[in-house]
Amino acid sequence: MEQTGNVLFGSNALKYLEAAILSCNEKDRKVFFLVDSNTAEFCLPLFYKSIKASSINIHVIAIPAGEEFKNLDTLSQIWQELTEKGAGRDALLINLGGGMVTDIGGFAASCFKRGIETIHIPTTLLGMVDAAIGGKTGIDFDYFKNHIGTFYQASKVLVMTDFLSTLPARQLMSGFGELLKYGYISYPRLLKADPFSFDSHYDWLELIKICAATKIEITMKDPTEKGLRKLLNFGHTIGHAFESWSLENGGDLLHGEAIAAGMLCELWISHKVFGFPMEEVNIYNQMFQKYFDPFRFSISLTDNLLDRMQHDKKNTGQSLRFVLVKSIGEVIYDVEVNPETVRESLEFYLQTLKKKV
Ligand SMILES: NC(=O)c1ccc[n+]([C@@H]2O[C@H](COP(=O)([O-])OP(=O)(O)OC[C@H]3O[C@@H](n4cnc5c(N)ncnc54)[C@H](O)[C@@H]3O)[C@@H](O)[C@H]2O)c1
Repeated sequence: MEQTGNVLFGSNALKYLEAAILSCNEKDRKVFFLVDSNTAEFCLPLFYKSIKASSINIHVIAIPAGEEFKNLDTLSQIWQELTEKGAGRDALLINLGGGMVTDIGGFAASCFKRGIETIHIPTTLLGMVDAAIGGKTGIDFDYFKNHIGTFYQASKVLVMTDFLSTLPARQLMSGFGELLKYGYISYPRLLKADPFSFDSHYDWLELIKICAATKIEITMKDPTEKGLRKLLNFGHTIGHAFESWSLENGGDLLHGEAIAAGMLCELWISHKVFGFPMEEVNIYNQMFQKYFDPFRFSISLTDNLLDRMQHDKKNTGQSLRFVLVKSIGEVIYDVEVNPETVRESLEFYLQTLKKKV
């Protein structure tokens, strides 16, 4: 399988990219590459090496790396450079980076001159399994995650696992956190994967294809998250609250790590609300503690975290709505949960960290 929906893999992806850029050059369409400081260093040279760079004409826009720069200032920098370099409505913006770059680049493209073509080339595992697919774009605002954004599909998403060879191990595991989500939603086999046994970036490809296919199937049925797509937010109500708090307080919690922690709490809530087996919660807890350095916080932070959850886009009015797991592969969205139960799930989480598993 070298193509699923608008996602191309491996050599097919590279061929498509080369042809797309050459075609733009022939038609006098300007081509822009958006990179962050790391993908400029590690990924752009790989791209130049792989395609016949001498024959092409591209402009590079470089932004700082890190979630703290997924904001209005950086967005403004991108629009400024597109304007100064004469991007027309027919310009092509290629976002080469992790979820931060594809989210902000996709958003920039969706509004610039009312929308220009954009291609995503994810360079992190998290981007390949999730962020680059499905057309959600956005920036953080006032420390709330993805508070401002659009739904805007990239014309293509080009997945090349070669980029994973320079990705730091912690970033790779952050992507694994998001990958595990698909195990609960629809593909239990993913929960048996042991990334510590993987030798090279090639070992990830099959898992990436499973996640990509799942995300495409769900987002094609519900592109603007009216219903089914909400399933993909499993772990995110509590995970985003952790991430938002960390962002505001100068922490370095990664997105996938926050979601992995959020999933532990939300599996426990699933146990309380739907009787999801406690044995399965414990199995996940073992995985969680094996693969991640768990996010730690003081119990006195609970009200602050609950307040952040109220701002979650999934919530309406004062109610807290969750995506919960009835059984592995059977996930329900829009489940209203009492704040007291959420509070208890945070206590459970902190207790489990005290116990050695
Ligand atoms: N739009 C969506 O549907 C969606 C889904 C999930 C997550 N997200 C968003 O994605 C973001 C997280 O994505 P991420 O984890 O990819 O973070 P990221 O883009 O910040 O990348 C993580 C780090 O790895 C570096 N990096 C990227 N590729 C590299 C490579 N090949 N070699 C070396 N370093 C490299 C980056 O510069 C950065 O420092 C969050 O903002 C999250 O909200 C969006």
